[in-house]
Amino acid sequence: MGQPHIEIKPLSGALGAEIHGLDLAADLDNSSMATVREAFVDHGVVFFMDQDLTPAQHLDFARRFGPIDINKFFETVEGYPEVAQVRKEAGDTTNIGGGWHTDHSYDEVPALGSMLYAKELPARGGDTMFASMYAAYDALSPGMKDMLDGLQAVHSGARAFGPDAQSNKGRDAKFNLSEIALAEVEHPVVCTHPDSGRKHLYVNGGFTMRFANMTEAESAPLLQYLLQHAAKPEFTCRFQWRPGAMAFWDNSCTQHFALNDYHGQRRLMHRVTIQGRRPHA
Ligand code: SIN
Repeated sequence: MGQPHIEIKPLSGALGAEIHGLDLAADLDNSSMATVREAFVDHGVVFFMDQDLTPAQHLDFARRFGPIDINKFFETVEGYPEVAQVRKEAGDTTNIGGGWHTDHSYDEVPALGSMLYAKELPARGGDTMFASMYAAYDALSPGMKDMLDGLQAVHSGARAFGPDAQSNKGRDAKFNLSEIALAEVEHPVVCTHPDSGRKHLYVNGGFTMRFANMTEAESAPLLQYLLQHAAKPEFTCRFQWRPGAMAFWDNSCTQHFALNDYHGQRRLMHRVTIQGRRPHA
């Protein structure tokens, strides 16, 4: 069999590209994998259309990028503890990921990437937005870049998964790990990506609590400024899901936001996260 014809279509000026011509259920050859890896590094988030994947095939593809990093807080797919369910039922009002965030930044070693596969979609709505933290960093003034250099930020899952978090209400006790969510870790505010060598901002609204050695109140003005700056439309792209689509994003140099605009309808996605590397300045 010949090499697949792979086409890469960038989605916006800042980040994101569709990759056409690959069947992710197949055992992809090394050259196809090299093309995917390169597109992932170049575009921050890549999208594959019209896939037909079992949870086992989803995991097999994810393992080509590294060992699986099991999410501590999500319900999983029966029989597949490494595959998380990102689910909103017709009667739910809140969704998972409904604010700008970077998966697992509350971990010492955050996840390298997340692969989200569409299982059931609302008739309309439920898009996901992504933002380039390279673009956000590049657009800062030299003075701001100097000020952020060497600054550390504290990250935690407390707001999203702690005792007071909305996501814990009505949850099965076995998934209620709210105490674990209170753990805090520190990461540099500006990191250098190990693959691209480029600098990017590394703060997010979901899990960054404050700057190290400062209170939340003291941190808020600068932190809020950076979060608003990072979400500027020109740093983003928006993906409209179709059945069988898969998104694969880099958790170090991007943030994402799951839109919650489809009340009364069910949306079910399968997510697999891949082990990453400790962020460094
Ligand atoms: C997530 O935040 O990982 C989920 C994103 C989505 O459901 O679109």
